[in-house]
Amino acid sequence: MLNPIPLSTPVFDGNENDFVLQALGSNQISTAGNNITNFEEEIKKRLGNYHVAVKNSGTSAIHLALRLLGVGFGDEVLCQSFTFCASANPIIYLGAKPIFVDSESTTWNICPEILEEAIRDRINKGTKPKAIVVVDLFGMPAKFDEILKISQKYEIPIVEDAAEALGSSIHGKPCGTFGDFGVFSFNGNKIITTGSGGALISSDADAIERSKYLSVQARENFKYYVHKDIGYNYRMNNMSAGIGLAQFFNLDKKIALRRKVFENYQNLLADFEGFSTILEPDGYFSNRWLSTFLVNESQSGFSNEAIRLALLKENIETRYLWNPLQLQPIFKEIEFYGGGCSEELFNKGICLPSSENLSYGDQERIIGVIRKLYS
Ligand SMILES: Cc1ncc(COP(=O)(O)O)c(C=O)c1O
Repeated sequence: MLNPIPLSTPVFDGNENDFVLQALGSNQISTAGNNITNFEEEIKKRLGNYHVAVKNSGTSAIHLALRLLGVGFGDEVLCQSFTFCASANPIIYLGAKPIFVDSESTTWNICPEILEEAIRDRINKGTKPKAIVVVDLFGMPAKFDEILKISQKYEIPIVEDAAEALGSSIHGKPCGTFGDFGVFSFNGNKIITTGSGGALISSDADAIERSKYLSVQARENFKYYVHKDIGYNYRMNNMSAGIGLAQFFNLDKKIALRRKVFENYQNLLADFEGFSTILEPDGYFSNRWLSTFLVNESQSGFSNEAIRLALLKENIETRYLWNPLQLQPIFKEIEFYGGGCSEELFNKGICLPSSENLSYGDQERIIGVIRKLYS
C-alpha cells in the first residue's frame, strides 16, 4: 500500500513538550496558568491594539461574540453561507435566526452587494439584522473595505469568523481584527492547533474580560459560588494553551510552508486545462491554510469527484470545498439571498493535501494521479 497523504496534519516541532510538562509540573492543568496568559499575550502582540481571550473552540468563541453583541431570541443574524456549519450554529444556540448570504467569486466570501440587498430587504420587512457573520474562508480575507462600509452605514456589527485565517491580512492589517469581534480556531487541522481550541478578539477590553467570566460558568469573585448570569464551560485549559503557545512561535514558518505548498501546486498545475484557483487581490495576504482549486469539467473532461476518487485509490485524502449552508438539510427552511456562486464553487472545487510537511515528491505524486485523468 502506498504511503497515505492526509489533507492537513498538525506538526509539532517547537517547544510543545516543554510547555505541557510545565503545566503538569505546576499542577495547573485547568483554566488558569502561565501558558494561558502567555499565549494570550503573544497573540495580542501580533495583532497590535486588540484584546484576546483563548477558548476551548472556535465555535464557543463565535457563540460568545454573538452573545456579547446582545443577539438573543427572535433576532436575525446575517451569515455567509459558504462556510462550515460552526459559523451559523451559535446563532441558533441563542434562539436567533440565521439568514444566509451568498459569496462573490474573487475571495469566495460574503458578497457585499448581496449583503446590502439582504439588509435593505430585512429592514423593509420590519426586522433589522442584529449582526453579520463574515468568514475568511480557506485563509482568504473577505472584501472588508466594502463590508465595513455597509456595517457602518446600517450600524450592524460584524463577527469576523477568521477560524481558518490566522496570519492572513489585508494591507498588513491582520484577519481577526476587522469586525467588532474576531474568532480563530486552533482545531486539529488548522494552521496551528491546540488539539481543540479557539480565540476571541476585540478592541473592547471590557467585552473580552466579560467573555472570560462567561467562559467559566459566570462565577462571581466571591468566597463561595455565586452566579448572576448563565455562563459556559468555554475557557481553554493550560495544557492546550501550552501546545498553542509553542505552535504560535512557529506561525510564520508554518504559513510560509503552506504558501509554498500552494505555489508548488500552482506551478505543477499551470498547463492543466480546466484548472483554476483563487488569487490574492492587491494587498491581500492569505495563509493558504488549504490549497483549493476549481475544475471546469467541460474543459478538463473530468470532475472534482473523479479527482477525489482517483486520489483516494492512491491513499491520498482530499476534500470538497464547504457544502454551502443553504444546501444543508438542517437549514432548508432558512432564507437565503444570492445567486449561484457558492453552489458553483462547491460543484467545481477540491481541496488538495496541504500539510506544511508535505514533500515536493508527494505533490508530484498527487499531480501525477490527476494528469492520468486526462488520458
Ligand atoms: C470557518 C470555520 N468557522 C468555525 C469553525 C469552528 O472552529 P472549531 O472547530 O474550533 O470549533 C471552523 C473550524 O472548525 C471553521 O472552519
